[in-house]
Amino acid sequence: MCGIVGYFGKREASSLLVEGLSKLEYRGYDSAGVAILNEGKLEVVKCKGRLANLEDKLQQKPVIGNMGIGHTRWATHGAPSDVNSHPHTNKKGTVSVVHNGIIENYISLREWLISKGYEFVSETDTEVIPNLVDYYYEGDLLKAVIKATEKMEGSYAIGVLTTHEPDKLVAVRHESPLVVGLGEEENFIASDIPAVLNQTRNVYLLEDKEFVVITKDGVKLYNRLEEEINKEVFHVTWDADAAEKGGYEHFMIKEIHEQPKAIKDTMASRIALGQPINLDDIHITKEQIKNLNKIYIVACGTAYHAGVVGKYVIEKLARIPVEIDIASEFKYRDPIIDENTLMIVISQSGETADTMSALRLAKYKGARVIAVTNVVGSSASREADDVLYTWAGPEIAVASTKAYVTQLIAMYIIALFFSQEKETLTSEEIENIKEEMLRLPEKAEEVLKYKETIQKFTTKTSKHKDMFFLGRGLDYAVAMEGSLKLKEISYIHSEAYAAGELKHGPIALIEEGTIVITMATQEELYDKMVSNIKEVSARGAKVYAFAQEGHTEIEKSVNSASYIPRVMDLLAPVIAIIPLQLFSYYMAIEKGCDVDKPRNLAKSVTVE
Ligand code: M6R
Repeated sequence: MCGIVGYFGKREASSLLVEGLSKLEYRGYDSAGVAILNEGKLEVVKCKGRLANLEDKLQQKPVIGNMGIGHTRWATHGAPSDVNSHPHTNKKGTVSVVHNGIIENYISLREWLISKGYEFVSETDTEVIPNLVDYYYEGDLLKAVIKATEKMEGSYAIGVLTTHEPDKLVAVRHESPLVVGLGEEENFIASDIPAVLNQTRNVYLLEDKEFVVITKDGVKLYNRLEEEINKEVFHVTWDADAAEKGGYEHFMIKEIHEQPKAIKDTMASRIALGQPINLDDIHITKEQIKNLNKIYIVACGTAYHAGVVGKYVIEKLARIPVEIDIASEFKYRDPIIDENTLMIVISQSGETADTMSALRLAKYKGARVIAVTNVVGSSASREADDVLYTWAGPEIAVASTKAYVTQLIAMYIIALFFSQEKETLTSEEIENIKEEMLRLPEKAEEVLKYKETIQKFTTKTSKHKDMFFLGRGLDYAVAMEGSLKLKEISYIHSEAYAAGELKHGPIALIEEGTIVITMATQEELYDKMVSNIKEVSARGAKVYAFAQEGHTEIEKSVNSASYIPRVMDLLAPVIAIIPLQLFSYYMAIEKGCDVDKPRNLAKSVTVE
């Protein structure tokens, strides 16, 4: 999983490539590089480390030329190092390639190429690509790339240059994202729209095995049979500022603050008082909903945690059995799926490899698939039967925040829609929930006002190496997400437990001073939660609680309590997660961590 860019036009390529890469660093940031073609000569500059290192190198030794490709890497095959950085080039230095994805059969391809006299210098899977293209090159780069891809198994979005045809850039995608930016006498390729948005708003969203050839005459698209194809231009309407920090110190804190708007936008046009739930992007019929025997919700990481809430609310409101699965596990347990099974995949990026494999398996076995995704034109949106877009806007910080709350909103909307179609709730009950949902943006704003309290609490706890997050019911789902946020950006070890489960083993870990963060927002489970709080306090834990406003008596049982505005229990996760996001954010700042680009992670995980 990496980011790729390419440029051909009248301007100097190198600064445009670096600018594009800066918008893709969220996809990986352990090394970066560019290859520039100038008067038939290929020059490659690449190095280990952040993009800033590459910029330094390019400043010391500028590379001139108006055609080039660039890459920002998240290492899969071979450690982050100069030699493993992209672009990769054949030994003769005639073909250069940037690649996002994984070539699964690279070992056999490499052996085969070695038997033909080719030599390799890196540990990467990618290095087979320039060599394959060189092997098949007979005077036409497009033909050579098509032949090379016929040999390649796995996922890829690649950009290819050759010194033999210095006026041509060829690119193709297969199970990794790729867009083509269409400018005035200049054109771009990139893994994602924000990388080209400062230059153009008109893009082609490529489908699998579509090839693009960029020359001075413009852009042409081809299928694998080398037939020219036509495609609609997608006009990007969202603001370029949405992908910038806009005065905030980090993307993460900006995105936390954007949550009220993201919640509102995701509900807009779908939920209105006195109107039926409107899901015109979902075409499943009343009959099909009634016949559903089971729903699988499948996702990874934060999206999985949104799915845990989804299971709870769909079962409660629509009375359909729901199984929730981690995508990387789903496919390997031979799940029982038929045409009356519905799968809901949740994915911010819509490109996560594990989630996409699960989606494909479900479709292959005859299930209908709804994709809940934030990225228009993503693989999930294209391959699913129905799409429900979460209108969070571009999420850049690796730690997901606004996408998560909009995924929760999507779960409520789907649950209400099914309840409406199955008539498991009265219209009065549905109206009541909708009314409460429409107040969520305002309540999210209110919680954000308490950020200083959270910041102070963070200062008190930042020296601790381990923490526990406890909750029951929906609070357990929130605890899981709070714990993940803390681990991924502040590197503090934390565990989330269903509060009632603690006594079955993990309570042995509680000792004098252990920090336990408890979620107590669920009225029905409140007393039970207080009992669990007492159990850990009695063993020396320092307990911090989050409860709904009005429950001040909890202060008698804990070291410190914070409150969220009163909200229907069912909807509490949307509000209760916000203080936990802020807690992780301030903790990461306190510990001097790189908030937006935590170590070892990438925003979009396009490898299994
Ligand atoms: O793009 P997706 O929603 O499919 O990504 C899934 C996970 O990789 C993602 O949620 C990850 O856990 C985030 N880093 C969480 O903050």
